[in-house]
This record gives sequence, structure tokens and C-alpha cells, in this order.
Amino acid sequence: MRILLAEDEITIVITLRDALEDAGHEVVHAADTGAALAALEREDPDVVLTDIRMPGEGGMAVLKRSVELDQRRPVVLMTGYGTIDQAVEAMRLGAVNYVQKPFRNESLVQMVGTFSRVRALEQENESLRARLRSAQAPGDFVGASDAMRAVFDRIRTVAPTDATVLIEGESGTGKERVAQALHAASTRAEGPFVAISCAALPETLLEAELFGHERGAFTDARKEKKGRFELADKGTIFLDDIDDMPLAMQVKLLRVLQERRFERLGSETTRRIDIRVVAATKVNLRDHARAGKFREDLFYRINVVPIVLPPLRARAGDVPLLVAHMIERHGNGRKYRVNAATMAALERYPWPGNVRELENAVQRAIALCEPAGELALADLVPLDPRWRGAMEVAGPVRPLREVLKEAERRHIERALEQTGGHRSQTADVLGISRKVLWEKMRDHGLLAQDEPNESA
Ligand SMILES: Nc1ncnc2c1ncn2[C@@H]1O[C@H](COP(=O)(O)OP(=O)(O)OP(=O)(O)O)[C@@H](O)[C@H]1O
Ligand SMILES: [Mg+2]
Repeated sequence: MRILLAEDEITIVITLRDALEDAGHEVVHAADTGAALAALEREDPDVVLTDIRMPGEGGMAVLKRSVELDQRRPVVLMTGYGTIDQAVEAMRLGAVNYVQKPFRNESLVQMVGTFSRVRALEQENESLRARLRSAQAPGDFVGASDAMRAVFDRIRTVAPTDATVLIEGESGTGKERVAQALHAASTRAEGPFVAISCAALPETLLEAELFGHERGAFTDARKEKKGRFELADKGTIFLDDIDDMPLAMQVKLLRVLQERRFERLGSETTRRIDIRVVAATKVNLRDHARAGKFREDLFYRINVVPIVLPPLRARAGDVPLLVAHMIERHGNGRKYRVNAATMAALERYPWPGNVRELENAVQRAIALCEPAGELALADLVPLDPRWRGAMEVAGPVRPLREVLKEAERRHIERALEQTGGHRSQTADVLGISRKVLWEKMRDHGLLAQDEPNESA
């Protein structure tokens, strides 16, 4: 520990300094208030030991200044006879302790040792907290499917690095959200996040947009303008729809990725930038490269860490979670219900627009629903026979037993809902006995925890 010892009595200084130095600490000495205040600023000590009475304003001024500069730095006052009242006041102002003269040097050395251990613990806590922060699901993300868990893990591991990331996924699967999460969990989080779609602009405009231009670089360039690369300096640039980037621009992008250098249009000056690159594609970029629509060298530069977001229809198990999340996000604090039959239909619907389409559907259904009511299936998905037919064949074919079991569970849930949970009526409408109904409910996990065994 680096200790500021502010004391004018030379005998105390000599013996205490020796004792502290023997214990492995470093001592900076000040013989009056002015010197002590100057040393506070200059030396930034870990601990302050100060006499109350010394030339100048005295130890109380040293205490106040130390607290102003760093509230967590321990300050101990050394009091002589007649300054006890002041010592009490000092504790109120933020001193951690005081010792009364004459004191044993040993007790002060011990005290400093305690401060040192507390500080080590604080530092350890801080690093634990930082690790915890990075271990939590990044951002406002929802997903319990294996595929999404793998995505979250990947985000956590690569976010703190500067590695280039390529996110692949259909429209609305959450690509931009992943890019933002990568930025937020990175060391660049305080820096800018700049997104640009490579599909939205014609080639010439895209170039000016990415690289910026000088005044007069082309007909419309009346003023100079910074490009997105420059704006993203010390942060992250998100190149959305990279698969749509014209081949001529791909060459220029390659150079930026390789050298982290570029020139504005109409300028000779080479500028350096410090950016993290995240790109997104709707198509498989490797195939695109094989087909000659994307530069192979650029593909390898971008595809350092791939993150693949599966379409929502391939992770239908996430639908109930996402619905609950979207209700929370857009429900203005109100609760809305979704009955089992509706939820089952939502899990079966193929969601060509993926999570975005689901989010829009929930928003629309909320708008059309009475406050805190039940969201209607008709407001959530198009009740068009075309998709109903398509729905049955969508997705990978699964074992018949699995599909039948799932259908049975949903059907029983629906029947229970219709009868308000009335068992005999439910058994009747399903055309089975109460005993069989009970057994099926047990197998599907639909019984309450403490329900007595009816078949016994
Ligand atoms: N796992 C998720 N959890 C919560 N919200 C999600 C999730 N995935 C996507 N969203 C939401 O869905 C919407 C669409 O996501 P995003 O804009 O990131 O998709 P995208 O893949 O970039 O789509 P596009 O290709 O059309 O640009 C956003 O409102 C986003 O917040
Ligand atoms: Mg997007």
C-alpha cells in the first residue's frame, strides 16, 4: 500500500515510517497541511494517516479533500490530547478510524493490513460482478431452444474479442439484435454502434455513405461528410445485408478489413480506424461465393466467427416464451392471456417473417383486444385456409408417435378449456372414461402437483 503520512512530530514520523515500511508498505511523508494536500493529488495514495493538529488548516482539511477525491480511500486520524471531539466529527465526515496518541505503531500497521485485504476483496468482487454481467443472457433476448442457447453462448464468448462476426438468418430472425448484443457486451460498449444496410442504397451512394467524401468530390457534394466507417471509430460497424453488396464495393471493403485504413471520396489522405465489424446475411454466403456472387477472399475475412440464427419454424418451442415476452414488451403493463388452443396454433404456424412477424402479430392482437383480455387467434395469424394447409406440411417431418402425443395433449387441453376444467364433461366430449382422462392428463403433466390418485 502507498501511504500518505501527514505528521509534523518528527519522532513519530521516523518510528512509524520504519514500522510501515517493514510491513512492506510505501510511505510518502508530508510535514504540514499544504504538503499533505499537494501529496494527495500528486501521489494518489491508497491510505491516508493524518495528524489533526499540524501547521496550516490541519488534518480535517486533509480528510475532507481526500473524501472529495476518492470516497473509498481509508483515512485515519491521529489525535493528541484535547482533539477527541474533532476525531468524532472526523468519523462523521468519512474517516474510517482514529488513534489516540501515544499509540503503538503495531496497531496502525495492523489497521493498514486490514485495509489492504479489504481492497483486494473489493477488486475481486468487482471482477466477479463483471464476469456475472457477461454471463447473463445478453440484451432483451428470449429463447430456450438448444439453437438459441448456442447463439447466446457464442455471443458471450466472442463479444469481448474484436473478432469479425458473420450473422446468418432469414429476415426477422434477430440478426440486428445479435449485432447490438455483441456491441453491448464488448469493451467498445461506450463507443458508437453504427448500422448500415448494403441493400438499401445504389452503389455510388453506398460508397459515399461508407467512406464519406470531401467537398466537391462529386456533383452533389456541397459539404464534406464523414462516412460510416469513420463514425464507427472506437465502436462497432454493422454491415447489414452484406450479401447484397456490389462486387466493386466488396474490393474496397476488403481493404478496410485488412488494413483498417481508407480514404474519403475525393481525398488523398489515408485515415486509420479502430472498428469491430459485424456483418449479416440472409443467404448462405459460402454458396453465394461459390456461385461467384460474392468475393471468396472477402467471405473468409468476414466469416471469422459465424452465428446462425435458425428460422422460428425450426424452433417452435420458443414461440410461447416469445409471445409472453412480446406481451410484456408491448402490453403497457397489462396482462393478456393466450389460451392453449391459440398457443398451439401459433406453434404450428410457419412464421415466414420469423420473430418480427410474431412481434407484429402480438402487437396487433393487443391493439384489437379489450384490456387484459384473451388474445384472439384470428388477430394473431391469417386464418386463411392456404396457410392452414401449408402449416401441416411445414417443418421437418417428425416421428408419428411424437406428433400424435403432442396433438393429444393439445386436444385435451382444449377440451378442458372448453368445459372450464370440468372432468366428467371433458371425458364426455372426448368420448373416454374419467379414468382414462386422468391417466392421460397424468402422462401429459396436466395434473396439479397434489392431485389425489383417482384411478386408485
Ligand atoms: N430472440 C429474441 N428475443 C426477443 N426479441 C427478438 C428475438 N429475436 C428477434 N427479436 C425481435 O424481433 C424483431 C426483429 O429482429 P431484428 O431486426 O434483429 O431481425 P433481423 O434478422 O435483423 O431482420 P431483417 O433481416 O428483416 O433486417 C426485433 O424487434 C427484435 O427485437
Ligand atoms: Mg435487420
